[in-house]
This record gives sequence, C-alpha cells and structure tokens, in this order.
Amino acid sequence: MKMTIADWPVLFVSGEFSAGSNEGHRLRELLDELRKIDACNVISATSYEDALEIFTSRADIGCVVVDWDLEFEQNNEKMTPEILLDGIRKRNTKIPVILLTDHLETENLSREVLKQINDCLWKTADTVEFIAGRIANWVKSYSENVVPEFFGKLVEYSERYKYAWHTPGHLGGQGFLRAPAGVAMFKFFGENTFRSDLSISVPELGSLLDHEGAAGDAERNSAAVFGADQTYYVLNGTSTVNQIIWRSQVLSGDIALVDRNCHKSLNYAMVITGATPVYMIPRRNARGIIGPVRRTEFSADSIKKRIDAHPLIKDKNKETHIRMSALTNSTYDGVCYNAKAILEKYAGDETIENFHFDEAWYAYAHFHPVYAGHYGMAVKDCRHPVFCSQSTHKLLTAFSQASMLHIRNGSQRAIDPVLFNESYMMHGSTSPQYSMIASLDVATRMMADNGETILGDIIREAIQLRRKIAGLERDSRRNGDWFFGMWQPHTVKYHGGTVDFADCPTDYLMENQTPWVLNDRDKWHGFEDIEDDYVMLDPIKLTILTPGIDDNGKLLPTGGIPAAIVSNFLIKHNIVCEKTDYYSFLLLNSLGTNKAKQGSLLAALFEFKKFYDSDTPLEAVFPDLVKDHPERYKAETLKSHCESMHRYLRENRIMELMHRSFEVIPVPSMLPVEAAANVVRGNVEMVDVAELHDRIAAVMLVPYPPGIPVMMGGETMSGEAKAIAEYLLAREKFENEFPGYEGDIHGITRERHGERTVFRTLCIKK
Ligand SMILES: Cc1ncc(COP(=O)(O)O)c(C=O)c1O
Repeated sequence: MKMTIADWPVLFVSGEFSAGSNEGHRLRELLDELRKIDACNVISATSYEDALEIFTSRADIGCVVVDWDLEFEQNNEKMTPEILLDGIRKRNTKIPVILLTDHLETENLSREVLKQINDCLWKTADTVEFIAGRIANWVKSYSENVVPEFFGKLVEYSERYKYAWHTPGHLGGQGFLRAPAGVAMFKFFGENTFRSDLSISVPELGSLLDHEGAAGDAERNSAAVFGADQTYYVLNGTSTVNQIIWRSQVLSGDIALVDRNCHKSLNYAMVITGATPVYMIPRRNARGIIGPVRRTEFSADSIKKRIDAHPLIKDKNKETHIRMSALTNSTYDGVCYNAKAILEKYAGDETIENFHFDEAWYAYAHFHPVYAGHYGMAVKDCRHPVFCSQSTHKLLTAFSQASMLHIRNGSQRAIDPVLFNESYMMHGSTSPQYSMIASLDVATRMMADNGETILGDIIREAIQLRRKIAGLERDSRRNGDWFFGMWQPHTVKYHGGTVDFADCPTDYLMENQTPWVLNDRDKWHGFEDIEDDYVMLDPIKLTILTPGIDDNGKLLPTGGIPAAIVSNFLIKHNIVCEKTDYYSFLLLNSLGTNKAKQGSLLAALFEFKKFYDSDTPLEAVFPDLVKDHPERYKAETLKSHCESMHRYLRENRIMELMHRSFEVIPVPSMLPVEAAANVVRGNVEMVDVAELHDRIAAVMLVPYPPGIPVMMGGETMSGEAKAIAEYLLAREKFENEFPGYEGDIHGITRERHGERTVFRTLCIKK
C-alpha cells in the first residue's frame, strides 16, 4: 500500500467552520476543494487551544493552516496564535505552517511570527482552487522529506513492482500465496512487509557488511546523531554487539575488568575471546536494588591487587594491562554512571586500554539534557577508545534485535574501521533484513528531529507519576494508612529551601540534573559511600516499593507485601512489570507509555490495596492460583497470603542470604573458555544444588532477583562461595513452599522428584 498525501492530514484552525457568513461559506468551499485535490485529509480545530492539543498528540499532521483572524472572535488572552506557533515550533521545526487571513495587514505581523511561518494566504484575494493547491503542495513537499534516506529508498524500491529473480524466495510475498498457511501470514503482515523484504543483491540500498551506499550512509548519519565517531548497525541484538566489540580487541590470555552485573552476552564474549575476567562487584542496597561499582575499582592500585590475587593469572610480574573494561550503564534499576567524569578525570591512566559501556537499556540518553555526561558517547576527551552497545529496539523504536554499536576514538588510539570490520563480519549474516536497517534509520531520524521533545514528554510523564505516587504515599502515612512508595529522593533542594519530592514542580525536576544525582548525604538510595558526581537516577525507570522493609533494611515483623504478589496482580490487569525484586518492582516509562496507561496502573494499585485492606479471599483475587493449588491456598485471604510469604522470607533470612551470596566472587578454577570447552566435549553433568559443594560450574548462574550472576562457568563452589549454594537452596525451598511463584534463574533446570521441585545445574565432571 502506497503512502499518499492523504496520510498527512492538514490541521485547519478556524472559528468559521459552521458560520453562516460569507467567510464560513468560502472556508467550507476551500475544505471541499482540498479534499478533492489529491484526496487531502483535513482535521479541523475551532480554537488555538484545541489546535495545540491535537498537534501535540499527533505526529502525522502534514501542514497547519492557522486562521489568524480567529484571535478577534475567540478573545482568549491566555491562548494567542503566537503561543500556538511557539508550541508547534517547539515540537516540529520543519512542518509547514500557513497563516490564513484577511483582516491583518502584512506590516502588523511581528518578526517572531514571520520567523515561524512558511506561507501567508489571503482568504479573499485568491481563488479557493489556488489556495487549496498551494496548501496541498506544502503537504506534498513536507511528506516527501519526513523519511530518512535509507527508508525512503527502500519504500521507493518496494513500490517499483519489479519482477525479482533472487532471494528471499517468497519474492515480494508471492511465494506465500501458494498455500493457505502462507496466505494467512501474508494477510496478517500485509504486502509492504514482503515487498520490502529484499535480497542483498539490490545495489540501490548499498551494503551493510561493507558499510557502503545507502546502508553505510545511514550508519554514518546515526554516528553524527548519536554523537559517535563510528556507528555500526547490528541486526542480532546487543548480545551480538557485545561480542563484536570484544572480538575486535580481546585475545586469549588478555585480562578484562568486568562489572559482575553484566549481561550473559558478556560472559559469552569472554568465552569466545578466551579472556581472563577480573570482576568489579556492584553495590546493592537492603532491598537488593543494584547500584554502581565503586570508583576505586578503576584505579591502577586496586586492579593490581586483584590481578595479584587471581589464581589463574600466573605471570604477576609481567606488565599487566586491562585490555577491556565493561560497565552496565544504566543498571537495570536506572542507575547511570557519569561516564564523562569517570573517564575524563579518573580512569585516564594507562592501565585500561578500552572502555565498554553496555547501554542496552539506555539508547536515548544523548537526546535530553537531564542525562548530560552520563552516557558513553558523552565522553569527548579520553586517551583510549570508548565503545557503547545500545539496543535501539528496547527503548527507542527499532524492530526487535536491531541494535547499534557506537565508537568514540581515543586521543592516543583510534579504532581502524577496516580492522574492526573483520570482527563485525564474523558476527553478521550475509542476508541482512532491510526493514531492520530501515527501522534503525527511522529511529535515528526520530531522535534527530524530535528527540528532545519526545524524551521531554516521557520524562515529564514519568515525573508526574513519581510525584503522584510520592504524594499518595505521604498522605496515606500521615493518616496512619499505607500506600506503595517510589525509590527516589524524598526531598529536593529548591530555590534555597527544601521541598518534598511530591511538591517539587515537574519543570524543575525536568530541567535540573542535580535532584537525580546520588550523593552520600542522602540515605534514600541505601547505597554505601556513594562518590560525589558519580551516578544519577534515570527519571524514566520507575522502581515502586512495597511495604515490609524499614529504613535500615530490616524486614518488619508484620505488614509486609512481597512484590511478587503485587506484580502477579498487575499482570491480571495486563500491566507487565520489567523486573520484580523481593520488595520492589520496576516499570519503564518508555516511548509507548501514555497517561492512560499510568491511570490504569494507579487504578490497579488502588484495587490491590482495597482487596488487601478488606481481607478479600485469595480465591477472588487469584482464582487460577487457588484452582491450581487448592490445598495450599484455599483458606488464604490476600492479606494472610502476603503475611505468610513475608514471614517466610523473614524467618528464612532470604534477603540476608541473597546479600551474602552476592558479596563473594567464587574462586575461578578455570577460565570461562575452558568451562565452555568442557560443555562442548560433554565433560559435564547435572548436579542438584544441594550437592554443589566443591563443584565447578560449567555455565553461568543468574537468579532474578536481582539478575546478577552468582556463578560464572569455571568458578568453584567452595569456601565463602557456600553462601551461594545456600541462597539457591533457599530459593528452591521457597518455590516448594509457594507453588505458582517460580522465579527466573538462568542456568537452573527444575526437576520434579515426587512432590518436590529440585534445582539442578550443569557442572564440570569430577
Ligand atoms: C545489559 C544488557 N546487555 C545486553 C543485552 C542484550 O540485548 P539484546 O536483547 O538486544 O541482545 C541485554 C538484554 O536484556 C541487557 O540487559
């Protein structure tokens, strides 16, 4: 289906649509004429206020025609046409804006107005055909330029209806029409999906593997927009971006400094490169929320100490360089490092040769000033190269798996694109999906044209929700009642005084980074010894707190509401949390979130509270859970269910075990690459977690919460690492005690032994 100018409606702002006057008649004639020409669509607004609201909520407007004389009739002093023009231009600098007037003399138009409009038409001076034709022309030229180059070329090519004799075999979708299942797929996805699914043999679109032509131009454009020296499009997700980065720099025997809170793709990067990892342990607070690693971890002294203590690094006297260091930025919970300060001030010595920021969840940071300095590509002046991996598909608008790899060259060493491309090609398919490339191209254009506005909108909405929940919690507490809390500063320094977060104006919180920067004087975050100017909280990552833990991190004797119960309840309301910890859960206020979704969330939280406070039978709240496990849950109410789980977590010291298990880094008996070699050779066996003592893990073990690996392949469960086995056993016991609450633990296989579930994992054979 071809796009036409009908897809870009004209927003027509006038008070005369229904007027019986001569002017009203002429206006209706004009609208009819517009609809006739190229089937232009028209959206009408009868006031400047409505017009701004419509414009703010729709990105598909192709032109705005403003009846300047409306001012005289409407007489609304708060909303003038100048304010409308300002509002439009703040959101879109390119859209054609046309003034339609008959009373106004040209000399009465101010400089400001003239700077913001593209055309001025006199209602009565020209024929309706002429005015309509001119408006349609503006829509046409605007709509032809809204798409970026690669996507434009893809559309153009798809619309040429060529007979192709190359792959993919469905040839523009025709292949699907040979059998009913194919027809169903064709109808579901629509013809454009298949017309734009092209072979690499289409020269007009360039080559992604060689970074030439339109595809290469799109990557270079993304580099400029995301503030990088080089950018590569990667179509197998950030998991592959991470491996490309490491493969390009790291060789067997090289030492890598790795955040223990790393994604499993970094573990695989260590496997494929043969690197020797030295880990940095992130801080965690009493609730288990993951914080930053300590700044001292980057210092040459601390690195040397860890290398000296490492059992697998034999030659301690050899000059030791860290070939690659990797940090997760931001953390899952939205803690973002001040990359600029860390690299430009503190980590600029010779010890670390490459810096890698895994920004899978953070591709938007470059586009709003509130994040200034807190992302990898913000580093302008570093001796060594800085790499960033970003899942454009996660929090911007690319198709799933479409990611970007950004590089900032170091002042001492630049990354040679020819050498780097060998690693890129090692991980790339020779049949890239062109629609995925187009989605990265479009995500780039959206950020280039409207990034700050889009980000501004979602940050504003996130702050409004934060303030709302903080206010509800405060008011409930004052009335001896309870509500959910927010993990955020309780108070904000504002104009020489201090105000509650709930009372701080949203604009202030949007325009200032300081309220979001963690410091050691504030205790709300619960992290020890936070360094100055080191990390900030991302406003759009919302961690909601459930009752049950006091300010010192101790579980309260009663009144606890484990977060798993709340997030299960939210799922029933079609609200899916990003992550659930023991007494908190995380929601992302992303590009797809809107005020209606926020309203549904608040309504669902209130409903939970109502069921909890009124001691509603569990069967009425979670009928499926009770139906599946009647013996266990039939007699419970929502409140008693929360109490019994809270009591269990308290009596079994689950939080304490979790803390202890994440404080140890088990002794490595072999490198990740050797553990993987044992898997390949089949020299591994499944072992019950109760039998893990002295065993060497063959694979990475990552329990959620909190989502940090407790074991890496090659590490031995002995000495202090016994705490890890204890934590895993406690999780096993919990799942047997609370069926229906199975958590996610990567690397664990569950087996039924009679009535019980047993956790097992892959270990190296003895
Ligand atoms: C920190 C981090 N890095 C990398 C990845 C992998 O990203 P992708 O799903 O794009 O492969 C993830 C995915 O969740 C992640 O959380």
